[in-house]
Parts: sequence; structure tokens; C-alpha cells
Amino acid sequence: MSLSDQNIEHTAIIVVAAGSGTRLGYGIPKALVPLAGRSLLEHALDGILQANCAAQIIAVLPAGDAPLAALAGNHPSRPTCVEGGATRSDSVRSGLAALKPGTERVLIHDAARALTPPEVFREVTLALVRGAHAVIPVLPVVDTIKQVANDGSGTSPHVTGTPARESLRAVQTPQGFHAPTLLEAHERAAGWTPAEAAAITDDAMLMEMLGERVDTVPGAAAALKITTKPDLTLASSMLQERKPGKSADELQPARDTPLLIPRTGIGIDVHAVADSAEPRPMWLAGLHFPEDQGLSGHSDGDAVAHAACDALFSAAGIGDLGTHFGTDRPEYAGAAGTTLLAEAARLVREAGFEIGNVAVQFVGRRPKFSARRLEADAVLSAAAGAPVTVTATTSDGLGYEGTGEGLTAYATALVYSLRR
Ligand code: CTP
Ligand code: MG
Repeated sequence: MSLSDQNIEHTAIIVVAAGSGTRLGYGIPKALVPLAGRSLLEHALDGILQANCAAQIIAVLPAGDAPLAALAGNHPSRPTCVEGGATRSDSVRSGLAALKPGTERVLIHDAARALTPPEVFREVTLALVRGAHAVIPVLPVVDTIKQVANDGSGTSPHVTGTPARESLRAVQTPQGFHAPTLLEAHERAAGWTPAEAAAITDDAMLMEMLGERVDTVPGAAAALKITTKPDLTLASSMLQERKPGKSADELQPARDTPLLIPRTGIGIDVHAVADSAEPRPMWLAGLHFPEDQGLSGHSDGDAVAHAACDALFSAAGIGDLGTHFGTDRPEYAGAAGTTLLAEAARLVREAGFEIGNVAVQFVGRRPKFSARRLEADAVLSAAAGAPVTVTATTSDGLGYEGTGEGLTAYATALVYSLRR
């Protein structure tokens, strides 16, 4: 059986991508984290587009996240974008609120399962078309699973039972539902206490609580949920194996050839603090510091962002700030540091590289930085689409950094070629 246009017309897919990716630890939303040069959100949307089983695609994104909104907006699947909430269920509810009236079937999918093969979307949709009210993709479990409990004695939990392994399945997404029934289930759940809501770990559970039968279809190893850094490495190798036209032999690295040769780069930027007779806003590391007098320069003077750009250009071997944002490019005069960093990252990718990370340290008496470090990391990482970390130090009163006349930012970047 295949999907008819009529089936597709009344089916929607919600891809939830509003999580923060804390366990992955990149300091940027997980859906924005790059995998082989494309964000996890784009990979997830690629699979949905290829599956061709839904007329409406809804992407649930972190509130106010411009880079993700831009990536989703430019994706050929043309998703409707909505803002997510504090928990995954809140985000699912935001997605459900955007469903077109008359939607019969809805698939809920985690962007974190970025490499889910198109067949899984199709199998789930087909099962719904055949009349199922709830369908989930599952895999057999390989580990023995124990049930445990804590008796309050302060020791580790003890085992209370061992369910038969043959009866257990690991559950993936997309999970598919008869849309009106899932909406009813979510309406009921909206009034629950946070503790009750937290106990519900997937949408199928809500259907089980309504007494609905939940069917299963085979899941896929590639649909793994990317949660930690090793998952990202695994996903990257899976993607490599998927590339068409390569035999297993070709996939092996040539003898004595390292699989990956990263390249490092360095960038340094120095800016004077502007004369106090000319008040200027202080922008550094993509943030505004309202207490401080700004740095001089024809741009916003964001030495941290500029050093990061130079380190990226240096690593990719494509010149420096002057090459790309010099006086012959008046559109960049006065540009924000984050704008320049985003453009530098784009140029580096255009030259065939992916960015491993960028690290910047600045030396200066002001601004007071530690309380805003994580904010700076997040803003700059979002601009670069890769982890950027910023640290700060003083010079023990020595030199122009010590007197507060100016500051220096030192950056290193690591990039790797995608063209073997
Ligand atoms: N999700 C969401 N809104 C939230 C929380 C999670 O849309 N408030 C989405 C995530 O973007 C992800 C899926 O739900 O696609 C599964 O969540 P998880 O893997 O836990 O992702 P994160 O919450 O981003 O990661 P972490 O828990 O490590 O912060
Ligand atoms: Mg989470």
C-alpha cells in the first residue's frame, strides 16, 4: 500500500526542536548543532521532505532563536515555524495549536533524532492510514533491563524485578496519532501538576492513559536520539556510510592516512577604549555592557568577535579581516561583531570546512565579564553555528590592558576539511 495524495493532504508532522541541548554541551540549541556541515534541524527536515507523507510540516523552535528560524525558513520543506515552551510537552502543544483544521493524522518527531530514515515516517503514516490511532517505531532492547526502587536508606537503589527482555522495546520517534484523539489527550494533560506532567515521557503514554491501543512498527538504528557528544560522533559515522556510490573499501581510510586532519588558526585584535569625551556603547563578545565606555574603531569595536573571525580565516587559510571586511566592503562598516562572525563562519564553510570550535580570551581591566560569560558563549556560538567559548583575564595592572586604555583579544579556531 502506498500513500495517496488524499492521505498526504490530511497528515501533518510536528518536529520539536525547542530544547536547549544541555547534555550535548555546545552552549547552543541542540537543533542548531552542526553534523557534517548541516544543523540537526536541517537533517531532520531532510528526512521528512524525502518521506513525502505530510502536507503540513511544523517546526517548533526555541523562542526568539533567529539562526534556527532562518535555517528552517530556508529549508525546502517550508515548515510553519512556531515557538516552543519550557518542556517537550509544552513544545508539542505549541505545534498542535498550529495544525490546520481538518488534520486527521499527526506525527510528532524529535529533531534530536536527526537521521531518522524516510521509511520510518512512511511506515508510521501507513499504519495510521490503515486505521491505527497511535503508532510508535520500536527496536528490540539488547540490554537486560532491571526495575529498581530506593528504600530511603541512602544506599544505591536495589533491584525489584526483571521484565522479560522479549517483551521490552526501545521507543523512537516519529510517533503517529489520530489527530483529534491526541488533541483530546493533550487538553486533558494541560491541567496536570508539573510532577504529573513530568512522569509522561512520550506522547504515546498519553494515549495509553486514554485507553487507546498503541501499535508498533520497526524503528531504525539511524534514528538514534542524539543526546551526548558520543552520539554525535556515531551519527557522523552513520552519515558517512550513507553517502551513495561508496564501497565499504572506499570508506576505509587509506593506509597511513589519518581520517581527519584538523587545522588550527590564530587571531589577535587590539582596541583602544574610546576617549571619554566621546561616549560610545561598549560591545564585547556579542554583548552590550551598559556600565562601560566603548572601544574605538570604525565598527562596534568588538575585539572578541573580531579575533574569532581572524582565527577562523587563519585556520581555513582564506585571508583575514581586511581581506573580507576591509574598506572596500562598506556594507560591513559599523557591523555588529556577531554579524561579522556569522559571515566569517559562512565563508569558512563555503571554502569547504566545518568548524570544530573557537576559543577566545581577552585581556582587559573592564568589562566585568564572569557573570555574562555563558551568555557570551551562547550568542557567539549561535552566530558561528559552532561552539565558541570566551574567557577573560587581567594583566595585573601592567600595560594598556592594566590601565584600562585598551584591551586585547586572542583567539584560536579549529576547522576540518569536508573535502577528503
Ligand atoms: N524539546 C523541545 N522543547 C523543550 C525540550 C525539548 O522541543 N522544551 C525537543 C528537543 O529539541 C528534542 C526533543 O524534544 O528534539 C527531545 O529532547 P532532548 O533530546 O531532551 O533535547 P534537549 O532538551 O534539547 O536536550 P537536553 O535535555 O540535553 O537539554
Ligand atoms: Mg531535554
